[in-house]
Amino acid sequence: MKRPLLGVNIDHVATLRQARGTRYPDPVEAVFIVEHAGADGITVHLREDRRHIQERDIELIQAISVTRLNLEMAVTDAMICYAEKIKPEHCCFVPEKREELTTEGGLDVLAQESRIKEACQSLKKEGIEVSLFIDPEINQIEAAQRCEVPVIEIHTGAYADAQTEREREYELHRVIKAVQFAHQASLIVNAGHGLHDQNVQAIARISEINELNIGHGIIARSIFVGLSQAVREMKNLILAARSHS
Ligand code: PXP
Repeated sequence: MKRPLLGVNIDHVATLRQARGTRYPDPVEAVFIVEHAGADGITVHLREDRRHIQERDIELIQAISVTRLNLEMAVTDAMICYAEKIKPEHCCFVPEKREELTTEGGLDVLAQESRIKEACQSLKKEGIEVSLFIDPEINQIEAAQRCEVPVIEIHTGAYADAQTEREREYELHRVIKAVQFAHQASLIVNAGHGLHDQNVQAIARISEINELNIGHGIIARSIFVGLSQAVREMKNLILAARSHS
């Protein structure tokens, strides 16, 4: 059994800080705790409106992290320039709309293929591993392949938001099909969005998934049990689910 990796998105530690304009809670402190609790990577999304993570956070995190920094970002010249400057190990291109509460869908790679391919190549030249966050759709995976990325992240939001058991089964099946298709095409396949301790198991069981990226569910749970415990619980749930797959 290949052990699935857990990337922890710490954006919402910064969301809480920004809500009051204080210096705390500090996402840098979160990195120490999250990594010590067993996270395999740290994810941050530098949004255009800077609603949570700030440049300063990223630069401090880069200096102290002992795992791997995954910078999520929109496909804009400003963000590409920033990534080229700071050179995180990994960048994940995501769609971004100012008014959205969170990343609401995958990138439409098909619709902007040449622009995205060019962006991926700019980062690849800097030695950055690039992934594309896409919906579980075969034509989007094929477009990602044409962009020559080594990694994709499948958006699990539709699965997580399903309102009925039937809808959840349908969305889970779409994720499974997409993951298997991408894996057979030699892509490294990550997944994430909307996962929490009640719904992560079915996704973690998909043996071809390399890494799960989880933010809101872990940070929300940490309010009650503490951040270290929330990360450990999630890691255990993921490993237990995978060992039964
Ligand atoms: N993966 C990507 C590409 C994302 O944009 C996000 C949200 O920032 C996540 C995973 C994590 O989603 P959630 O916070 O719902 O766990």
